Amino acid sequence: MIKIAPSLLSADFANLQRDIERVPNADWLHVDVMDGMFVPNITIGVPVVKSLRACTDKFLDVHLMIEKPERYIDAFAKAGADLLSVHLEADLPPAIHRALDRMEENGVKKGIVLRPITGAEAVIPYLERGLDLILVMTVEPGFGGQAFMADMLPKLEAIRGYIERYCPGCHLEVDGGIDPATAPLAVKAGANVLVAGSAVFGKPDPAAAVEALRAAGM
Ligand code: DX5
Ligand code: ZN
Repeated sequence: MIKIAPSLLSADFANLQRDIERVPNADWLHVDVMDGMFVPNITIGVPVVKSLRACTDKFLDVHLMIEKPERYIDAFAKAGADLLSVHLEADLPPAIHRALDRMEENGVKKGIVLRPITGAEAVIPYLERGLDLILVMTVEPGFGGQAFMADMLPKLEAIRGYIERYCPGCHLEVDGGIDPATAPLAVKAGANVLVAGSAVFGKPDPAAAVEALRAAGM
């Protein structure tokens, strides 16, 4: 079963509740946190996640594009995130492991994210300890509306193989340039959670756009 996770980055930030209500058929909601350091853009932080938690029961999948994310795990967990994912490039491996420890302590699901430059084998030590999600970026993180990098498909396939070997049950999520044309490629390569921003909120009927992605991914 494929999950569709609309990215609120492409929603209207002055009308987040209204836009969430426009995708009642979404499986998860994807929340992009950017600090202006790890990526060149600044988006939202802990108070907005807290406000989102108060207006929806949907699973909040929070993608942390921030340096040294260990500092903020407790705060995002307490704000109501259901899953947090940290970039492997955002700190040294011991600090990434500590960030994952903090997720466990807080009872939130734990994920790691790879920039396009990072190779598939980097996930193995983290899969061995247990993960709920691996997110493979198919654009350079920072902005919505970029073109899907098809050269990431072999990486998705390799990570799907590692998941089956080391941690079956871990989700494999893909983020960046997902639309009804690229979704089937990502699913064929092993993804089971599809993030989409502009292909959902950039459309006149976001709920129909979610269904179009679901149909394309089947
Ligand atoms: C980009 C974000 C994505 C973004 C995807 O750094 O991580 O979640 O919203 O946007 P689209 O689907 O438009 O490529
Ligand atoms: Zn994202």
